[in-house]
Amino acid sequence: MSKIPLIGTGLNGLVGSKFVTDFSNRYDFDNLDLRNSIRPIDITDEKQVLAALSRSKAKFVVHMAAFTDVTAAWQQTNDQNGLCYLVNVRGTQNLVKACDKTGKHLIHLSTAYVFDGLKKEMYLETDPTNPIEWYGKTKALAEEVIISSNINWTILRIDQPFRNDPFPKIDTLHRIIEGIRGGQLYPQFSDHFFGPTYINDLAKIIDLVIRQKITGLYHATSGESWSDFTFAQLINEHFGFNFDLKEGSLAKYLATNNRPYQKNTALNTDQIKKHLDFKLKTVKQAIAETII
Ligand SMILES: NC(=O)c1ccc[n+]([C@@H]2O[C@H](COP(=O)([O-])OP(=O)(O)OC[C@H]3O[C@@H](n4cnc5c(N)ncnc54)[C@H](OP(=O)(O)O)[C@@H]3O)[C@@H](O)[C@H]2O)c1
Repeated sequence: MSKIPLIGTGLNGLVGSKFVTDFSNRYDFDNLDLRNSIRPIDITDEKQVLAALSRSKAKFVVHMAAFTDVTAAWQQTNDQNGLCYLVNVRGTQNLVKACDKTGKHLIHLSTAYVFDGLKKEMYLETDPTNPIEWYGKTKALAEEVIISSNINWTILRIDQPFRNDPFPKIDTLHRIIEGIRGGQLYPQFSDHFFGPTYINDLAKIIDLVIRQKITGLYHATSGESWSDFTFAQLINEHFGFNFDLKEGSLAKYLATNNRPYQKNTALNTDQIKKHLDFKLKTVKQAIAETII
């Protein structure tokens, strides 16, 4: 069977590279990337983006490129000439415009950081966004650009992604493993909650969105809620590290640090689950198949 042409951005990244590895038999990837050796593409350049989409037969564009360093983003707060705004907002605007002109469907990866983190329960897709720091603000603005457009679009929000294999940009799971192995894991917050996203399953969800031509806004994490401490405990126990794990407090940390931090970013995934034709792994199952 011939492969399906597919345009992607950020396909060298933590999430994108897993999607490419797991679905290279199905898709013929065209990566719009700064590091593309044949034709490097900067998504902040409107002309380059339009030219790339115009010459492709792909019906879908999977947009995973982003400025993802949240601390560096915070240092650029309100700077619309800063790289974070340019990549996350302008880059997305350029892709939306090019999708509009070429009739392509945009699949966009977003984040739980569009929320303020004050909700006690898991966030729903219908909850209002209210970002409290610049990275989240730029990702929320990117969502608005997409939602207010006339193109076919799908937004998948994720949180703290991890994959089953080590990757140069260290993920949430491997960061804890490295900390434990180095004997230097900081006390883990027991009052900070998140929704781990198993990237291997997220890759399957992206494929599902393409296969079923799903449109709209979805939360695409594991659908579970873990504190940093319970997540680290699970890893410690599963791999038999016997590390003397210490409990920390986000509230105490925030009292001495002025960088904003969402207290809860766990996402409810009931909406995407209605479409699934495979079963998501639980966080425990995902960790059990992780290579360290
Ligand atoms: N990682 C997380 O914790 C997390 C959490 C929630 C949501 N997300 C979202 O998930 C998506 C994927 O994140 P990730 O962690 O896989 O990202 P990542 O590893 O930081 O990779 C980002 C990718 O974007 C590319 N890129 C950056 N600027 C670009 C530009 N101007 N033009 C073209 N490409 C550019 C990078 O290319 P180079 O490789 O050439 O630098 C890289 O491939 C993003 O939308 C992110 O916002 C991530």
